[in-house]
Amino acid sequence: MIFRKPLPPTPVLETARLILRPYAERDLDAVQRIFPQWEVVRWLHAGIPWPYPDDGAATNWAQCVEQRAKGEKFFWAITLKGDDALRGRIDLWPFDGEKRDMRGFWLDPALHGQGVMTEAAEAVTEYAFRVLEWPFLYLTNALANRASGRVKEKQGAIPVDVERRDYLSGPADGQIWRLDRDAWLARRG
Ligand SMILES: CC(C)(COP(=O)(O)OP(=O)(O)OC[C@H]1O[C@@H](n2cnc3c(N)ncnc32)[C@H](O)[C@@H]1OP(=O)(O)O)[C@@H](O)C(=O)NCCC(=O)NCCS
Repeated sequence: MIFRKPLPPTPVLETARLILRPYAERDLDAVQRIFPQWEVVRWLHAGIPWPYPDDGAATNWAQCVEQRAKGEKFFWAITLKGDDALRGRIDLWPFDGEKRDMRGFWLDPALHGQGVMTEAAEAVTEYAFRVLEWPFLYLTNALANRASGRVKEKQGAIPVDVERRDYLSGPADGQIWRLDRDAWLARRG
């Protein structure tokens, strides 16, 4: 089985500017403050409650705890070096043989456009390919979500399909990308 489960505990990953550490209960206040902004959520999946309830972060935390206990997903808090505060999140999970979607992310709008998510995505990809030895990642975003698509482009992912998906903004075309381990490793040298 290529995508072995249960997954190991979420590791700490370090990049030039960031520490990605396991998402923790102490992050909930930051999530409740940063996440419920339309520019953050509009292209996320329609299952997210909106308007975001006061206990939205806590409810999601309970789901994360359950999925972690089963070893189904990794959840990282994105933090800037020297400051432990959560600024965003990046999640990763194995291919289930069906749904071509293996990663999710969002970032505090105050940090958008500085390459932060590409840096986080590269660290998580490195972990998936070098440590877990997954052969590929399927990634997805609403076609209209250019910033998210651009992160995939910058990582060298190839667009492979377009599928109708339900977003908080409503039904829209979703782009599906594939990033292959061999191609990514060759690019990284
Ligand atoms: C998607 C998201 C995580 C990107 O984070 P980020 O740290 O700003 O991403 P990066 O800076 O690494 O890269 C973004 C790229 O998109 C580009 N971009 C941003 N808005 C764009 C737009 N409207 N049209 C075209 N390109 C755009 C940026 O210029 C940058 O590309 P560049 O480095 O070539 O200039 C952030 O926008 C976000 O949190 N969005 C809301 C949540 C979300 O949509 N998550 C993804 C769901 S699939």
